[in-house]
Amino acid sequence: MRLCFASNNAHKLDEIRPLLPPGLALLSLADVGCHEELPETQDTLEGNARQKAEYVRQHYGVACFADDTGLEVAALGGAPGVYSARYAGPQRLAADNVAKLLRELAGQPSRAAQFRTVVALALAEGPVHAFAGAVAGRIAEAPRGTGGFGYDPVFAPTEGDGRTFAEMSGAEKNQISHRARAVAELLAYLAAIS
Ligand code: IMP
Repeated sequence: MRLCFASNNAHKLDEIRPLLPPGLALLSLADVGCHEELPETQDTLEGNARQKAEYVRQHYGVACFADDTGLEVAALGGAPGVYSARYAGPQRLAADNVAKLLRELAGQPSRAAQFRTVVALALAEGPVHAFAGAVAGRIAEAPRGTGGFGYDPVFAPTEGDGRTFAEMSGAEKNQISHRARAVAELLAYLAAIS
């Protein structure tokens, strides 16, 4: 089976590739000839994931899945949430987003947070299905580590040993991550219908 991953984020593609079974060939957007930005104008993770998957199926005629992820910080009322990418402005710079997050959390008694991913699957035809995954953790006082991407240098998962995602290998992050959990749900669904 061939499935396109409807994302321009190479880091996400690198994370997802090792999670897939041998019979599932993963195509990038470039592989299917899509080079434009995907629309992402909804106000929920699920809405954005569905919008991206539907866009790629409709315009490129391929079965695909899309991922939308948010970092939800309890002391900030769930922010940045669905606006995680543009938290510090339209440039979508990870370093600026992390710096703003640390500023907003300064002096807050709680640094509890979770990453949440919704994956939307659009097969060649039929309704789009959504699958979710989450991981709990806390926001570190300062960035640590060089792996991963985005907010990984400041996110230390609760079920880890205190290291941030950016201090872990890709395989370690994949054992517990929001994205790996959502993809596991997606794979279980595909196995059930095949
Ligand atoms: P999106 O799902 O690509 O819209 O991502 C939203 C924001 O969260 C972006 O700033 C990403 O860099 C960040 N992000 C998404 N997934 C992860 C992750 O697994 N770790 C750290 N940051 C992430």
